[in-house]
Amino acid sequence: MRKALMAGNWKMHNTTAEARQLAADVAKACRDFDDREVLLAPPYTVMAAVADVVKNTTIQVASQNVCWEDKGAFTGEISPVMVKDVGGSAAIIGHSERRQIFKETDELINQRVRGALKFGLTVVFCIGETLDEREGGKTFTILEEQIRKGLAGVAPEQTKDIVIAYEPVWAIGTGKTASKEQAQEAHAFIRGLIADMFEKNVADQMRILYGGSVKSTNVDELMAQPDIDGALVGGAALDAESFGRIINFQK
Ligand code: G3H
Repeated sequence: MRKALMAGNWKMHNTTAEARQLAADVAKACRDFDDREVLLAPPYTVMAAVADVVKNTTIQVASQNVCWEDKGAFTGEISPVMVKDVGGSAAIIGHSERRQIFKETDELINQRVRGALKFGLTVVFCIGETLDEREGGKTFTILEEQIRKGLAGVAPEQTKDIVIAYEPVWAIGTGKTASKEQAQEAHAFIRGLIADMFEKNVADQMRILYGGSVKSTNVDELMAQPDIDGALVGGAALDAESFGRIINFQK
């Protein structure tokens, strides 16, 4: 049985005071769940503050990216050791904004994935097609390429620390959510590919999140799909009331 994971990616938002308040409000919205987990990915500058606010809760903290080395001459980067040092246990890697705006390639993303796993972080590995790719009938080819390249060299025993986030680029921040059928179709494809690359039991255990304009009004129908195991939420995660409703989705 896969436990749902409801993740909030704050992107480049929130000062320390704002972050502390939002984290505290999210913590209030969490009940004593045994069927779902909650994760917050604040900017690096407020990770320690958020980890401090949620330290007596089950909320987990993630970075929004991470380097593959523990330390060294990598200006502008942070290491998995640093993430753990400030109370983080996970890292988002390969988000479409990193791929598109900062030109991160599948090869660089793979380096980050392997480094994060080596140092004991959970990896939220993001993939997704653009509108052009979807309209050109290339969705599954793109997803397969991103997964095969992004997870190259990952050992089967490391897969328990990987969560995949399927985020169609055309649905991110646009208000245009993939339909539940489109999302389920992509998730089923991803699970099949993971079974092919590793083993069926790896695919059965791997959590696959949906991201892209998830809101309190569409979360229930998305979470009702058999291969959707959680959500990676951007805009709606910046409002405690909205994110509170999302994490309390109805089955
Ligand atoms: O990481 C989160 C995604 O980019 C989704 O963002 O919920 O604002 O569409 P969004």
